[in-house]
Amino acid sequence: MQLLKTIKEVRDAVAAARRQGKIIGLVPTMGALHAGHGSLIQKARADCSFVVVSIFVNPTQFGPTEDFNKYPRTLDTDTRLCESLGVDCIFAPLAEEMYPQRNLTWVDVEQMTKGLCGASRPGHFQGVATVCAKLFHIVQPDRVYFGQKDAQQAAVICRMVTDLNFPMEIIVCPTVRERDGLAMSSRNRYLSSEQRKQAVCLYQALCGCRKMVEQGIISTSQLIAQINQVITTAGVQVEYISIVDAQTLQPMTSLTADALVALACRVGTTRLIDNMLIFLNPPRFQI
Ligand code: PAJ
Repeated sequence: MQLLKTIKEVRDAVAAARRQGKIIGLVPTMGALHAGHGSLIQKARADCSFVVVSIFVNPTQFGPTEDFNKYPRTLDTDTRLCESLGVDCIFAPLAEEMYPQRNLTWVDVEQMTKGLCGASRPGHFQGVATVCAKLFHIVQPDRVYFGQKDAQQAAVICRMVTDLNFPMEIIVCPTVRERDGLAMSSRNRYLSSEQRKQAVCLYQALCGCRKMVEQGIISTSQLIAQINQVITTAGVQVEYISIVDAQTLQPMTSLTADALVALACRVGTTRLIDNMLIFLNPPRFQI
């Protein structure tokens, strides 16, 4: 496995793989890798003959009051995990390599980035879309792997790739959870043991919502009220609970199309997100 820091090195490595006829898979990450990232890497390994994992804590997607400085950086353990999963190449650039001068060019995916997490994180998705566009141009993969855990991010990147004709396929993989249902996240390590116990209420609230839909309830306001009650009863602060069209991310009043139930909460100062997809035909849930 190669550990590469410069754009030129990764371009050369990918070009060499391509000359051998290899299919290139990219898994973009910010490091602090866990089994959720691992599942994307395993899927890429199964589908592609050359797997690149990028590890870059992207400064342009963090707001001024967010956790950019304290975001966990664990390159040594990340490298060992990638090696054990058969990754061909890690691309771990410094910020100066990715942003040698102040960026004047940004990718803005309109409408889909205004609601949900975009409402409390202005500029976040512009930073995400821009760094992904840069990574896609640098690596030029055939396939790129994202997690359903960050549902809005995955939908925004799918739309960017369609709108801007990036010649690659986006594959969205299911959320990997802890045994009690908490979605794995690099930020879970911020939780105290008490908060860790409380945090399971996000998953439990989504499971409760699934039950209500199974019983035939299609009013989104009723579903949202129930989710809100489960989470607040657990002593966790709700930032938003929304039920939106799974493709366009626009709000729905009743379940008339495939839907995304998305929520963000604060457990102490740690911001956690989770979501569930509801497919109508045939009826199916992805949680
Ligand atoms: P990061 O939070 O490191 O996540 C990298 C990828 O792992 C994302 O596609 C995310 O959805 C996926 N992922 C995280 N937790 C997961 C889980 N429990 N199950 C399945 N997949 C999971 O998302 C980012 O980094 C950045 O915004 C990035 C796309 C790299 C751009 O900087």
